[in-house]
Amino acid sequence: MSVDLGGVVLRNPVVLSAGTAGYLDEMSEVLDLARVGGVVTKSITRMPREGNATWRVLPAGVGMLNAVGLANVGVEAFVERMGPRVTGVPCAVIGSAAGFSVEEYVVVAASLDAVEGVKAVELNVSCPNVHGGVEFGSDPGLLRELVGAVRGVVKYSRLFVKLSPVVSGRVGISELARAAVEGCGVSGGPNGRPGADALCVANTIPAMAIDVRTRRPLLANVTGGLSGPAVHAAAVKLVYDVHRRVAREAGVPVIGVGGVMRWEDAAEMILAGATAVGMGTALFADPRSPIGVVRGLERWVRSQGASSVRELVGAVVV
Ligand SMILES: Cc1cc2nc3c(=O)[nH]c(=O)nc-3n(C[C@H](O)[C@H](O)[C@H](O)COP(=O)(O)O)c2cc1C
Repeated sequence: MSVDLGGVVLRNPVVLSAGTAGYLDEMSEVLDLARVGGVVTKSITRMPREGNATWRVLPAGVGMLNAVGLANVGVEAFVERMGPRVTGVPCAVIGSAAGFSVEEYVVVAASLDAVEGVKAVELNVSCPNVHGGVEFGSDPGLLRELVGAVRGVVKYSRLFVKLSPVVSGRVGISELARAAVEGCGVSGGPNGRPGADALCVANTIPAMAIDVRTRRPLLANVTGGLSGPAVHAAAVKLVYDVHRRVAREAGVPVIGVGGVMRWEDAAEMILAGATAVGMGTALFADPRSPIGVVRGLERWVRSQGASSVRELVGAVVV
């Protein structure tokens, strides 16, 4: 069941997704972290952030709506309080970095990279740029610049880029994946790559809900991100496209995220091209659900006559 994400070896392909499992190991109160492959921290910014006003997390049909607004203690406090505990976490720890300028991302990524035991830094590029207001992750030029700059400072751990599903005009997810993998062309890090060592596909989908009686938006932030079963089929297609068009050829593994609630959803992601699978919304419904997903995947791999889960990555028959 073990998989390799560009040099980060996971005991199994199931990872707890950014922002849904606390800062580090809070989930260990209800879920044995030795049974999952990895945990991604909530996204950390340079300065502390209160986040958006409430309500900021809501049920939304067959999914969830959130506009947390990157509430976090800031990178200095994170490193001081959580840093010393990272090596004690019994699964791979991936630090998520967010920012509103290239400089902010660089500072946060360098700080997370320097924490002993952090295996990878994942860039959450679904943040608007302070200069142009455009999301870093929706503009290939901005994304190249960002990845190139961060690549230079992530020296010990691997660099993951979590793509945004927000694409505009003629730009598709493949152009964004290519930008993340190629960066500015200057190689760095333990693998000597110019860009991402792995791609995470994808983040939440922009969404909104309205109270028809008061005519007010349900989220204080007006709009937010949709996750859970409602986005699953869309996420599978994004993983399929990124794997086929960019990642496979570049030799870059994909972490498939979006609406994975049951083992069948995870297996679908793997067949579409994901080497690992993230779970987020499922943790709110049942924090132990990753264990059932791992067990189900084990049985599925055997029933498919495969000797390892790796054999089934991208193995959809089309
Ligand atoms: C409450 C909540 C908070 C989240 N916070 C973050 C975050 O800090 N950074 C990030 O990259 N993604 C964040 N996400 C997105 C998830 O990591 C994941 O990409 C998305 O929810 C889709 O997966 P899911 O359908 O399994 O939840 C958050 C999602 C939720 C529901």
